Amino acid sequence: MNEEPTHEPEEVQPDGGAATDDVALDPWGSSTVDDYRSLFEQFGIEEFDDVLPEVTDPHYLMRRGVIFGHRGYDRVARAMREGEPFAALSGFMPTGDPHIGHKLVFDELIWHQEQGGDTYGLIADLEAHSARGLPWEEIDEHARDYILSLLALGFDPTEGELYRQSENRELQDLAFELGSEVNFSEMEAIYGFGGETSVSHMQSVVTQMADILYPQLDEPKPTVIPVGPDQDPHVRLARDLAARTRYFGVTEAYASFEADPAERTVLARAYEERKSFADEPDRPRCVEAADWLDEHDALAALYDPAVIESTVEKLHAAGKEPLRPRVRFLDRNATEDAFEALIEAAEGEKRVYEAHIDSFELSRDAAEELAREVELAHGGYGFRAPSSIYHRFMTGLTGGKMSSSVPASHISLLDDPETGYGKVKSATTGGRETAERQRELGGRADECPVYELYAYLLAGDDDEFAKEVYDECVGGERLCGDCKEQAAVLMQEFLEEHQEKREEARELLAELDIDLDPKRV
Ligand code: TRP
Ligand code: SF4
Repeated sequence: MNEEPTHEPEEVQPDGGAATDDVALDPWGSSTVDDYRSLFEQFGIEEFDDVLPEVTDPHYLMRRGVIFGHRGYDRVARAMREGEPFAALSGFMPTGDPHIGHKLVFDELIWHQEQGGDTYGLIADLEAHSARGLPWEEIDEHARDYILSLLALGFDPTEGELYRQSENRELQDLAFELGSEVNFSEMEAIYGFGGETSVSHMQSVVTQMADILYPQLDEPKPTVIPVGPDQDPHVRLARDLAARTRYFGVTEAYASFEADPAERTVLARAYEERKSFADEPDRPRCVEAADWLDEHDALAALYDPAVIESTVEKLHAAGKEPLRPRVRFLDRNATEDAFEALIEAAEGEKRVYEAHIDSFELSRDAAEELAREVELAHGGYGFRAPSSIYHRFMTGLTGGKMSSSVPASHISLLDDPETGYGKVKSATTGGRETAERQRELGGRADECPVYELYAYLLAGDDDEFAKEVYDECVGGERLCGDCKEQAAVLMQEFLEEHQEKREEARELLAELDIDLDPKRV
């Protein structure tokens, strides 16, 4: 049903090769990803390893590469390091029992809460009803189970917030506002929606957009959305909407005309060289820069000739206008009052145009900050682009994908501890045909669902233990029978303890302001 999202410009493939079509990020499709690499190349998700050094005391899911990708997480990491406000939010569709795959996200939220973030967990009941057609009674039941597990694992509801989409009026108001920034063609391009798609399903999309920006309603702040990569289309749209609702855009410019980022690098270069071509080096003229660019054949090796050409054209058209760096505020959605206020507030030399303001003294950062301040003072949201982190999907215990609809493929957090034990004992492994071969060749821990259980859950924070299992397996010292027995016992213990904590959490839940039995007409 889904097409490759098309609302962002096509990325040039770094290897010059054609993009493979085997990954489609579809929030409502089957979520398997065979090739995580292509998520970086095709969709522009960034590698988590690149920000890992910026995270103080990272979670074990980060250390072990389970969290493999991100968008803009550096902002969140910085806020965390510097003790600045930040938030974390994720949502759960209550379509079945919470299972060990959901536990990854619960843990991610709880960890961010422990690091001092404002943390939100939401029940995506509107989405479950509209996109999956689940009846409300079932939704209510599952909603309770998700929340109990989240509490049992350590979510602090007095510090953080739990809500159901259907019960949150502020959220729905925000969804309505955001909905006026998205049209049907865009939904079609991103999600493959068509004439048969219900209006409620589309409403659940704008509701998710509102979820993602909800933590910033009090105050704009870096926000991380921990999710599986199938949710990336939602994250990208939310990042887009955050920008679209802003009152002002801030860019850099060198003259009155607009230039794209590629042209700006060429302009910057010309500006740097101004002494070599300007009659008055303090007042280099656009036309002089144009001639210099035209004459410097060597530049063609550094910049795209087509970019040079378009830059030269613009410079020529600007004629004698001085070439001079500045920051530009573009009026996107500003009220008249806000625009006036920004003119007033921009200190130093500036020039005011009909729909933009050029400032010659503010730095880019100072300009961004000022734009947000003025927006907030005049009733705007001032949203920052939300960030995301992506975790790998767990392999099913029976091989293939872990699926809520195949009980043997996953372990539900509500499974009887003995059932959990039994599921691990009968799981597929990465072992060899015989013990002898295993001793000789070693096991294939990298392809083993049982090893995943250790790494994603059973070893907890104990890296030594996870490494020991791995090394013993690939070294041929560990045999699958014993290995599974050990894992099965740990799983049983985990489930016993988790379910006790769930029982204890019932009391806490009763005190919370969340209605799991709403009256519906
Ligand atoms: N669409 C998500 C899912 O299918 C659930 C969800 C709703 C969500 N709102 C969200 C996830 C906000 C992250 C952030 O599981
Ligand atoms: Fe998997 Fe353990 Fe067997 Fe290695 S020894 S393949 S980790 S079950």
